[in-house]
Amino acid sequence: IIDVEDKLVMPGIIDVHTHMREPGITYKEDFTTGSRACAKAGITTFYDMPNTIPTTTTLENLLEKKKLAGEKSIVNFGFHFGGSKNDNVEEIKKVLKNGDANTVKIFMNVTTGEMLIEDDEVLKKVFGNSKLVLVHAENEMIDKAIELNKNYGRGLYVCHIPSAEELKKVINAKKNNELNTKEHPVYAEVTPHHLFLNTEIRESTERNKMLLRMKPELREKSDNEFLWKAINRGEVDTIGTDHAPHLISEKLEKITFGMPGVETSLALMINASNERKISLEAIQKLMCENPAKIMKIEKRGKLQEGFFADIIVVDTQKEWIVGVDDTIESKCGWTPYENWKLKGKNTMTIVNGKIVYENGKINDSHNGKEINFLK
Ligand code: NCD
Ligand code: ZN
Ligand code: ZN
Ligand code: ZN
Repeated sequence: IIDVEDKLVMPGIIDVHTHMREPGITYKEDFTTGSRACAKAGITTFYDMPNTIPTTTTLENLLEKKKLAGEKSIVNFGFHFGGSKNDNVEEIKKVLKNGDANTVKIFMNVTTGEMLIEDDEVLKKVFGNSKLVLVHAENEMIDKAIELNKNYGRGLYVCHIPSAEELKKVINAKKNNELNTKEHPVYAEVTPHHLFLNTEIRESTERNKMLLRMKPELREKSDNEFLWKAINRGEVDTIGTDHAPHLISEKLEKITFGMPGVETSLALMINASNERKISLEAIQKLMCENPAKIMKIEKRGKLQEGFFADIIVVDTQKEWIVGVDDTIESKCGWTPYENWKLKGKNTMTIVNGKIVYENGKINDSHNGKEINFLK
């Protein structure tokens, strides 16, 4: 029996968009530190992106990554396979058949990593041989991705949409029943940083000018407002963090794209609900229900066979200061929200029926085989 008093009990957060940096870039993050950060903040499942070293663009590399996460992660996990500029369609076919990933991530603009695909023929082949394709696509690349999905694809998930202009493109596609069909669905992801941060905050201090850099870049306050409105109209499918840790030394030395996010996403959203910007129901939809549906977690047979409860307990009234009243678990050791006063904090995380986090303490004795790999 767990007595949660007057706290909020909700399903664990599923973060569709994280970069856990293992293998190859583990001085920034690894599956141990990244999953501890998740456990602390209420994320019971993360999906990891393929821009590691080596890139997750062969079945062999994917299986190696799966093994590493299986040994280290204290929460459930899954992977997005990577589409390669060198045409790895044969590997995509193998992976989708083998089932160790069901989704393919492609990069259509320059960002951190070496995975940009510019060749239209390669893009067509990737869409033509995948199920759901997640895209890093900005501005006119969003139009292109929507077209590719319509003509060749079987599903499009537009990552980290930063602005009114770009989100309007995706909303229009979602509302168009020739572009958004059962066979070619279109999904929209928004990150916490594009909701809570903007160029004004970035330009306010020399430090922020360096730290608050990511792709897509922060936009205006009016874009924050449009994103919130769209969320409240039900036009956005998920909140994904785009957890992309880099060391603070790297960030201050030269412009480096990406910021950590898993440790603050839920608390920021609960705080926003206290400020009447969003309902708790909408938070649950965007951070738990929709990710589960889009990643088809709910449909997997394993759900009945071997999955236990992924539940979190949130104190919606707890007031705390980020980075002061908590310990940063991410290996990068910093957060863009340092010193932010928030109301609302995760107090307990239950993964597969086991408590992995309770009142400031992480229980990491349940790593390895008790954690589920999500095919
Ligand atoms: C991400 C990273 O660092 O891996 N960086 C970023 O600025 N968002 C890559 C990405 O998601 O584009
Ligand atoms: Zn990206
Ligand atoms: Zn069709
Ligand atoms: Zn990303």
